[in-house]
Amino acid sequence: MTTLVLYYSLSGTTQSVARNIAQALDTDLATIRCARYRPGVLGYALAGFDSLRGHLPEITLEPEVSLEDYDRVVLGSPIWTSYLATPVRAALSNLAGWPRHVALFVTAGGQGEPDKALNQAESALSHPLDAQCRLTQSDLDSASDGGVLDRFVAGLDQAATAQG
Ligand SMILES: Cc1cc2nc3c(=O)[nH]c(=O)nc-3n(C[C@H](O)[C@H](O)[C@H](O)COP(=O)(O)O)c2cc1C
Repeated sequence: MTTLVLYYSLSGTTQSVARNIAQALDTDLATIRCARYRPGVLGYALAGFDSLRGHLPEITLEPEVSLEDYDRVVLGSPIWTSYLATPVRAALSNLAGWPRHVALFVTAGGQGEPDKALNQAESALSHPLDAQCRLTQSDLDSASDGGVLDRFVAGLDQAATAQG
């Protein structure tokens, strides 16, 4: 099964997890680029504002991959105001060729539950996710996520088979 790890990251956390997953799976890695947001207070404020009003920014992929070329996408997003980051929402809405198999991981500061973001991904794709996992900052800071990420990665193939 050909797999692409595709992620957006504003301040580096999701990027680091995405790189680890791509390395563990030995797969391609691509980033969702979005010039609208920059790290820093103003960028975070704009990100939060856009997230709440559902504004979808312009995005590009680097490298310029085609989702059609993959059987599965492992998608990574930060949580913004309890939802997927708006560049990821834009990717789900605007990119063609999403495969049947999509697994989602989100990174979060720790507040709230991930249900809104997961529901958002499933309704944009119009089908259930293969698998999902949520990593909080304390999971990542403690250098031990309690096995959440390892289990997510190890279970991906079985989850894809179960989804048919
Ligand atoms: C605009 C904005 C809104 C956020 N909202 C939430 C939130 O609702 N819940 C949460 O747990 N973390 C929230 N966070 C924290 C991020 O989800 C967390 O720091 C994430 O790991 C950042 O990923 P990144 O470094 O890849 O950008 C928010 C961060 C930003 C910038």
